[in-house]
Amino acid sequence: SHRPYVIDEMISAKAIAARIEDLAREISTEFADTDKLVVVGLLRGSFVFIADLVRELELPVEVDFLEASSYGDGMESSREVRIYKDLRGRIEGRDVLIVEDIIDTGHTLAYVTKYLTSRQPARLRTIALLDKPARREVDFKADWTGFEIPDEFVVGYGIDFAQRNRNLPYIGKVRFTE
Ligand code: PRP
Ligand code: MN
Ligand code: MG
Repeated sequence: SHRPYVIDEMISAKAIAARIEDLAREISTEFADTDKLVVVGLLRGSFVFIADLVRELELPVEVDFLEASSYGDGMESSREVRIYKDLRGRIEGRDVLIVEDIIDTGHTLAYVTKYLTSRQPARLRTIALLDKPARREVDFKADWTGFEIPDEFVVGYGIDFAQRNRNLPYIGKVRFTE
């Protein structure tokens, strides 16, 4: 259904792993005094990143998920964020880290952050592996970012193009061949 394309490697699996070690160290310091950090992955794109990140955290951790989506199968954000699955656990009075794969227009993380802030967590922080500031439509900055990237359509390491390529172990950019 899409034009033919190839994927060029942009960020290697090794570079991602090295960056996650640094981020995990910073997060472990920030939450060193926590009773238990609730790490919330935004499905589906964050499932690879959250799996690698939590295994580097030296903290008591609870893992939960929330499914939010705005893209469907296209290349353009619908700008309308929908919650398909909510958290299982309560976050009131708890320390929470929202884990996202990429910030593009900013609609998804801005919406979800507001949505979860209304439940009155003790501390709420956000981390995104990738940030594409050139595409921002709503003002949003994550507390931690793995890599700032240019305005390219990226896939892999959890990120899809029409639900494909999430299983690539690296971040690649889509290049159309026709
Ligand atoms: C993608 C990506 C982020 C969001 C970023 O999710 O995983 O969640 O878009 O875009 P934004 O900053 O413009 O909101 P998508 O809606 O494709 O759902 P998915 O995670 O299930 O692929
Ligand atoms: Mn997503
Ligand atoms: Mg998607």
